[in-house]
Amino acid sequence: MSVQKQIKRLTAPDIRARKSGDPIVCLTSYHAHTARVLDEHCDVILVGDSLGMVMHGLETTVPVTLDMMILQGRAVMRGSQRALVVVDMPFGCYEASKEEAFHSCVRVLKETGCGAVKLEGGVRMAETIRFLVERGVPVMAHIGMTPQAINTLGSFRARGREEADWGPIEEDARAVDNAGAFAIVVEAVAEPLARKITADCRAPTIGIGASIACDGQVLVLEDMLGLSPRVPKFVKQYADLGPSIGKAVEAYAQEVRARTFPGPDHVYGMKKPSA
Ligand code: KIV
Repeated sequence: MSVQKQIKRLTAPDIRARKSGDPIVCLTSYHAHTARVLDEHCDVILVGDSLGMVMHGLETTVPVTLDMMILQGRAVMRGSQRALVVVDMPFGCYEASKEEAFHSCVRVLKETGCGAVKLEGGVRMAETIRFLVERGVPVMAHIGMTPQAINTLGSFRARGREEADWGPIEEDARAVDNAGAFAIVVEAVAEPLARKITADCRAPTIGIGASIACDGQVLVLEDMLGLSPRVPKFVKQYADLGPSIGKAVEAYAQEVRARTFPGPDHVYGMKKPSA
């Protein structure tokens, strides 16, 4: 009899319970192979709509579609076993009404098998978040700099760097917290404001450019690995893989041109004829 060891996946309530506890480790992934690597080290894997910029070379996340998110969400679920997988809701599939948001989220949960969704917006999305949570959709909120709003915000600059600007961001945090978000991504927000929001909210905050004061951190994987051509100030590069990949590709190209690859180790010989 074979005994299969089942690895239990983390859930949205597990992450919510980490408020003020061990820091929550989160990175983005859009592929099965990177998800497999992240799964050993991360509590949460975010299938971010940043995939539009990272995988497809788009200028912003605005053109990303629900089908794109579902395809990559499935890939990440196949590659991971333990981390909570959160799939981003792309621009245009959840803002018009709470019913529209529910139908889009249900597609994501059913078609990917992921454990939660993320959506951008504070006060304006609070009613929708409550509606979703009451109907079984765990929601990670995203406030501060919200990239999907680039066309109304005008730039990706940091928020809350003057105290006079804190009010609306604090209200956003309070609104999504009260609506039942299990975690709140806080993006590109001045440290003292991130600290205050973290202290005031019951849900854990996950910072990206929002300081050590948050309950956890998230970065775009390709940014921290040195694969992105431009990165925001808040990104620490933990590796510089761009030049290493360039060198490997250069060596391959040289060997193909010199007819030294494939060598004897990389070809199939003939099977010995059976006696
Ligand atoms: O899309 C994304 O990758 C994100 C993170 C940067 C938080 O939303």
